[in-house]
Amino acid sequence: MNILTTGGAGFIGSHTCVELMKAGHHVIVVDNYVNSQPEALRRVEELGGMPVKSYTADVCDAEAMERIFSENEIDAVIHFAGLKAVGESVHQPLRYYRNNLDSTLTLCETMERHGVKRIVFSSSATVYGVPDEVPLREDMFCKGCTNPYGWTKYMIEKILGGIVEADPEWSVVLLRYFNPIGAHESGRIGENPNGIPNNLMPYITKVAAGQLDHLSVFGNDYATHDGTGVRDYIHVVDLAKGHVDACAYAAQHTGCEIINLGTGIGYSVLDIVNAFEKANGVKVPYVITDRRPGDVDACYADPAKAEALLGWKAERNLEDMCRDAWRWQTMNPNGYKG
Ligand code: UFG
Repeated sequence: MNILTTGGAGFIGSHTCVELMKAGHHVIVVDNYVNSQPEALRRVEELGGMPVKSYTADVCDAEAMERIFSENEIDAVIHFAGLKAVGESVHQPLRYYRNNLDSTLTLCETMERHGVKRIVFSSSATVYGVPDEVPLREDMFCKGCTNPYGWTKYMIEKILGGIVEADPEWSVVLLRYFNPIGAHESGRIGENPNGIPNNLMPYITKVAAGQLDHLSVFGNDYATHDGTGVRDYIHVVDLAKGHVDACAYAAQHTGCEIINLGTGIGYSVLDIVNAFEKANGVKVPYVITDRRPGDVDACYADPAKAEALLGWKAERNLEDMCRDAWRWQTMNPNGYKG
């Protein structure tokens, strides 16, 4: 298939492009590079062994999107593009709602005009809000999100669900990601956040590399086995493969499906620190600090539906995730700048 990936130069997008190409698909990328680098796509081409057609444009730009759909026979879209920093979204809600919703509406209107009716969307476990129980299943009621970023994911799920209700020929797969970490085994592509990382694994790799002094562990009084927050960490290559399977599913079925992509295993912050030190033979100095507002005790998936519908299951373990994250850091101490 010819698959358009919006935000295809980003962390999850770049890894997915490689897996799509390995599965025989042709990839077209649209990215505005606000939080990604063109160099990532150059490396995607190297790893995928074929060229990637790319457009530097904002998905909110209707004319640019019209041109992309006119110039290419697109069979399906994977919609990664969007602003994604939880804390930033609290301070800049309008920017988050405008960008994430506008881009989705523009994309879907363009798809509709061109009769492209298959879309896989990057949703997030954040839509579950504060869970009453874990593991989280797709049919559980979402009681409400804790930040504007989460609400944009929630609203986009509703928008895409509404499109299917109005036109049952559409095929929509809403992938709810848990916590993607790690990097491609080659060390050529990986996570490259702007500035000081917000998320745990990129912070740990920068501490281990001596670029940051120590990790702050946000609270050790949660109701978990060691008091630190528990999450479902998933290797980004496993996550990427889930998108390939979701595209295959979307090509065979119509309707709207919500699917968790997680491992089903919860690890605490200290589990991650210990696993990282053991896998890589490096120290990660840390101090325990206050809780971070909005964080929940534990969040992990029931991944059964992904296996039943897509035949997908995470294959990489925590050691793989820690080793690959560190390889990316050591081979690219300044990210894509070398
Ligand atoms: N943590 C620390 N110190 C840090 C960073 C994180 O202790 O410097 C802890 C957090 O408190 C949490 C865990 O590490 O317990 C994971 O935190 P992350 O920021 O890496 O990830 P979150 O689970 O908070 O959020 C992630 C994504 C969101 C997404 C959410 C879905 O970043 O985009 O998962 O559940 F919405």
